[in-house]
Amino acid sequence: MARKNGFVIAIDGPAGSGKSTISRIAAEKLNYLYVDTGAMYRALTWKALCEKLDLTDEKSLVKLAKRTSIKLKKDGKVFVDDIDVTTEIRNPEVTKNVSYIANVPEVRECMVALQREMGKEGGVVLEGRDIGTIVFPDADRKIYLDAEVGERIRRRYEELKEKGYRVRIDEVEEELRLRDEKDKGRKVAPLRVADGAVVIDTTHMNIDEVVETILRHVGQG
Ligand code: DC
Repeated sequence: MARKNGFVIAIDGPAGSGKSTISRIAAEKLNYLYVDTGAMYRALTWKALCEKLDLTDEKSLVKLAKRTSIKLKKDGKVFVDDIDVTTEIRNPEVTKNVSYIANVPEVRECMVALQREMGKEGGVVLEGRDIGTIVFPDADRKIYLDAEVGERIRRRYEELKEKGYRVRIDEVEEELRLRDEKDKGRKVAPLRVADGAVVIDTTHMNIDEVVETILRHVGQG
């Protein structure tokens, strides 16, 4: 489809599949905007935790989504009501609670509207769980990144350790398996391979190889 600034590229996949890193690099190489949609759900979760909201109270979560400004900057920074929360939204407390937010249909509608707005002119890589299925079913390129669960656990553990969190691998395993279950099993916008998506198993690939594969796919007519 012809769009003003180029393609809409949809990248979906489970936690630990390498999505964020790979999408960011691919967007940089293409000189496209990178939209990390998980960061938006995390941003709302961060604010809900700060305000000590009842995370099972859907109505108050919908109100929260409607009264919160979320901005994703070109340099990757994430702002909630103009507060820089780039680091905070990655903390394990947010990760543990993000499903409460991501499960509420009306909250998702607000986030999806923002994502469509950011992507409508093209020239964008959007990354998440439902980009190729719900947000942009008409994306120009769809990619589903996957990796074996053991490898995804290892990656996530290394990532947290690098950031200075003291976590045990069995805790990471539990968190990731639970999130997989919730992301794939939820009623609204579950994670699945979109029609027309190319599936890339990154288990035995390094970052450069995956980026290369994606760029090759994008370059094909
Ligand atoms: O990609 P991530 O780990 O930062 O995403 C955090 C959570 O947000 C993930 O467990 C599910 C949710 N999410 C979603 O429901 N839909 C998206 N498009 C992106 C993320």
